[in-house]
Amino acid sequence: MALDKLLTPVKLGKIELKNRVWMAPLTRSRAGQPGDVPTALNAAYYAQRAGAGLIVSEATQISRQGQGYAWTPGIYTDAQEAGWKQVVDAVHAAGGKMSLQLWHVGRISHHLLQEGGAAPVGPSAIRAADSQSFVVLPDGTPSNEPTDVPRALAKEELPALVQAYADAARRAVRAGFDMVEVHAANGYLLNQFLDIRANQRGDEYGGSIENRARLVLEVVDAIVAAIGAERVGIRLSPNGVFNDMTIEGSEATALHLVSEVNARRLAYVHIAEAGWSGGKALSDKYRAQLRATFDGALVFCGGYDAEMAEGLIASGIADAVAFGRPFIANPDLVTRFAKNAALNEPDAATFYGGAEKGYTDYPTL
Ligand code: PHB
Repeated sequence: MALDKLLTPVKLGKIELKNRVWMAPLTRSRAGQPGDVPTALNAAYYAQRAGAGLIVSEATQISRQGQGYAWTPGIYTDAQEAGWKQVVDAVHAAGGKMSLQLWHVGRISHHLLQEGGAAPVGPSAIRAADSQSFVVLPDGTPSNEPTDVPRALAKEELPALVQAYADAARRAVRAGFDMVEVHAANGYLLNQFLDIRANQRGDEYGGSIENRARLVLEVVDAIVAAIGAERVGIRLSPNGVFNDMTIEGSEATALHLVSEVNARRLAYVHIAEAGWSGGKALSDKYRAQLRATFDGALVFCGGYDAEMAEGLIASGIADAVAFGRPFIANPDLVTRFAKNAALNEPDAATFYGGAEKGYTDYPTL
């Protein structure tokens, strides 16, 4: 199959992407320590993958409170901002474009990661079932641990939380990022507010669809005010179950949000589909509803190959498709797609943590 659509340019906000193959956000747990600061090794990894139309960074915490796993990078200190600048400079020098994914894990955390050993926060004091945080134990052993029972955020705390997102977006633009992506998917804080079980609030941030979507839209509005809508995307995962999310109601909630961010002229909507983390597959009908609701770039991710991606774009449903694990193992994924070449297989043992092995040493053609 000729990839007549997948490998052609597409507009995104005010920039043009050279193709429609996006690199999905991928946690790799290799930020520099101490301080969770991006390094020269991280820059080399991303620059190797600059053939993507757009690279979406690994999820990046907007605050210490927003961290749920050891060794993930942040974007709330000057050192982190400088670390990201060397990453983005390397990607730009290699001809790529990059979006920073803004992340707060909410209840998917552990007191060992929090300031003063505090409890993580969430919409309500409800622990995520069967969900894990990754911590370094006091004796130095890295370990996956069950997440803690969160403390419910007080309404009075939400304005500062919203501002932390806007501050992080400003830092991202200062570091040179082309875009930011609001992570409202996969069971992290903003998804917890959207969810009918994780969010049991009795104030205007809980209950109806409009109320559950309120915090996400306040975050979007603050970021848009800080850096402009043409630089902002959002990631959603309707029908996802990772981190104890609920399928029921999630399609309608996501559709409401897509309609609201369309009114705000966001550059893109990025849909994480079931695949790597379970959940229920989206129907063609629902994908078409998303398309009909959003005028900007609509991007799907999760288990696609080049032919499926080409088909989804040719049908008019998607503007681009994001690839995760294929990009881990194939830095030259776009070239391989263009040549219909075989793909390297990713090694799951080196997904998280470590150094060059399984990170910057996958061979190109
Ligand atoms: C993870 O680190 O496991 C992770 C991070 C962000 C996601 C999903 C998974 O959206």
